[in-house]
Amino acid sequence: MIEVEHLHKIYGSTPAIQDITFGVEKGEILGFLGPNGAGKTTTMRILTGYLPATSGSVKIAGFDVHEQSMEVRRRIGYLPEVPPLYPEMTVEGFLHFVARIKGVPAGDRPTRVKLAMRRCNLLEKQKVLIRKLSKGFRQRVGIAQAIVHDPPAIILDEPTVGLDPRQIIEVRNLIRSLAGEHTIILSTHILPEVSMTCSRVAIINRGRVVATNTPDQLMAQLAGGSGYELEVEGDLAMLQPRLQGVPGVRGVKAIAEPYLPDNLCKLHIDLEPGSDPGRQIASTVVGLGMGLYEMKRVRVSLEDVFLELTTEEKATDLAAAADEAAPDSNPSDSPATDLADTDPLPTPVSAASLTSPATSTEE
Ligand SMILES: Nc1ncnc2c1ncn2[C@@H]1O[C@H](COP(=O)(O)OP(=O)(O)OP(=O)(O)O)[C@@H](O)[C@H]1O
Ligand SMILES: [Mg+2]
Repeated sequence: MIEVEHLHKIYGSTPAIQDITFGVEKGEILGFLGPNGAGKTTTMRILTGYLPATSGSVKIAGFDVHEQSMEVRRRIGYLPEVPPLYPEMTVEGFLHFVARIKGVPAGDRPTRVKLAMRRCNLLEKQKVLIRKLSKGFRQRVGIAQAIVHDPPAIILDEPTVGLDPRQIIEVRNLIRSLAGEHTIILSTHILPEVSMTCSRVAIINRGRVVATNTPDQLMAQLAGGSGYELEVEGDLAMLQPRLQGVPGVRGVKAIAEPYLPDNLCKLHIDLEPGSDPGRQIASTVVGLGMGLYEMKRVRVSLEDVFLELTTEEKATDLAAAADEAAPDSNPSDSPATDLADTDPLPTPVSAASLTSPATSTEE
């Protein structure tokens, strides 16, 4: 649905993104994760046709963003980092305006606008002027304008910024509910957001995609993987080889832990990806007549993966591993359907000149 190939953007002489290539299948939610200045917004602006690339190509539903920008724009909903809102319009009036410029037939506009307001919990504010809205509500209007024309592709730059915790959950649910029918790319700094919302993650660092995979596979790929930590009492020399022989165990290591009483020692057990022999580990310890004082699972988090990949020394190795393990879905074999598009709103137009069905302006 979205095919991005060898995208470069150079501002002056500074490269902002370099050789970005990835694909998003129809119905997927791809999360863009990366530190400040990584190139997320730049990539999204190019995808939506708002910013020309220095080189490379982007196709959305088979349409080239550069050459067929109108086709693309009609098929994309875009929430920019700073939502383009007209402060003197009401929420409802603004959404009608957007629906109109996005080509929603006049007869369908009231329904589309209502639906977008309902999905973004804006019905209570529909008659309020945008300038009177709080930041979180403006963000909701930004999301509503991105979905009001029911675009097949939706690109959201930090959609949950500025929202309260409850609204964050609602927006995540909304995004998940849009998947399937819609293809979505969102950027975020919030790591749990990616695992909760996205089917795949692209980690961007210094203008390059350093890994693309499902959140689970990214975590499984990390050296070390998941494992257990044990506190045991007894003869380690006897225990260690027995644990090492448990199927699924990759390694067993004693860890120095100064605060532990002398009779106890701590072990870290590394597991093969996908295995979980917790039961056998416990019964091995107990079966040897040893004391098992603590057993806890240690999981690699997406945060660990992110830090590994965005910490220079490790990034190169892991990126190679990621590419091998999970070849990026190549959009070239996905049939072109309608797609996404972009759009910064058109140049501000005076609200009075709009034939907007929304009339009320007051809170
Ligand atoms: N208009 C511009 N002119 C010059 N450099 C720019 C411009 N816009 C972005 N950059 C640079 O391009 C790089 C990527 O910026 P971008 O805004 O894409 O990052 P980002 O991943 O969205 O960061 P953040 O998480 O802070 O939003 C940064 O080094 C930034 O300084
Ligand atoms: Mg940004």
